[in-house]
Amino acid sequence: MLYDARSAIQLDELRRTGRAVILAIETSCDETAAAVIRDGRVILSNVVSTQIPLHARYGGVVPEVASRAHVEAVNTVIDRALDESGADLRGVDAIAVTNGPGLVGALLVGVSTAKALAFASSKPLVAIHHMEAHICAAYLAYSDLAPPFLCLTVSGGHTALTEATDGGVTRMLGQTLDDAAGEAFDKAARVLGLPYPGGPALDGLAENGNPAAIALPRAKTPGAYDFSFSGLKTAFIQLERKGALADLSKEDAAASYREAVVDMLAVKTIRAAESGGYRTVVVAGGVAANKGLRSRMAAECAARGLRLCMPPIQLCTDNAAMVGAAAFRRIMSGRAAGGLTLNAEPAGYMA
Ligand code: KG4
Ligand code: ZN
Repeated sequence: MLYDARSAIQLDELRRTGRAVILAIETSCDETAAAVIRDGRVILSNVVSTQIPLHARYGGVVPEVASRAHVEAVNTVIDRALDESGADLRGVDAIAVTNGPGLVGALLVGVSTAKALAFASSKPLVAIHHMEAHICAAYLAYSDLAPPFLCLTVSGGHTALTEATDGGVTRMLGQTLDDAAGEAFDKAARVLGLPYPGGPALDGLAENGNPAAIALPRAKTPGAYDFSFSGLKTAFIQLERKGALADLSKEDAAASYREAVVDMLAVKTIRAAESGGYRTVVVAGGVAANKGLRSRMAAECAARGLRLCMPPIQLCTDNAAMVGAAAFRRIMSGRAAGGLTLNAEPAGYMA
């Protein structure tokens, strides 16, 4: 039987039973990751091989270096994920892979590996959008979480407010007009002379600084739920050029900057939650690891009786478990798309 026809039958069968063991692969940026997920909620294994040390000396991710490192790591990472899960490929019902957005060469490593595995093992292939995966990480951490909920997704490449609706569909309410929140942190960290990726290091310094040490701007955007960080970043760079940061401790500069980013994220998220009548707010993506953002969101949500779901840090930064969780929801809502003609979509495209 042709691969596509068999896949459609297999996916229908999974949907009928409501159960699936999914092998998921993620290579969109600088983490090579594979995981095995049962029924969209249970992590049987979650292996992440980070390339951060390889890129640190260049001060950012070098795409060609990333692709090569993915090629070297991907098979070992998948083998380990299968081993640790106690399953072998025969025990897997479907293979999921991030096909965008991300670095094209990096994405292609995951996509071609997933295609080869799917074809060789006659399993359906499910393509996943990276931001959808970040949102779905919350289903792994909160076993009773169900849509609808509001989600603030903040990563190195994206900043968006979305609504997760029934059937796993997401609706965009607003997004960044320029830099992503992670980029905003990383660039300010570079100004402070911190090594790549600077977000976590800046966060660490900020813990011991005064958030009111310097006044920094908050952007106004045309869309009520859009974000913009370039004005803040430029203001910070200008202060540094004028020597104004020299009088401050790095801790105070970091704390003031973090306060500005967190303020913009929190104010709009809470506004969207209140005007949309959401009862649950999810914060996902690598920047959800930020301690300042976590405590501010916890306080704001508690004050309003909103349920706040923030996955643990290892599910917030890039991983494949979240890809498996997203694939499960796509399969069960009849929206699984993939097949052997699947290509990388570096600009991202959510079907
Ligand atoms: O989601 P992620 O792992 O990769 C992307 O999809 O981009 O996010 C990585 C981003 C980087 O910009 C990193 O500096 C930032 O998340 N990040 C943080 C923290 N931990 C990671 N930013 C601020 N504070 C943190 N604690
Ligand atoms: Zn990510």
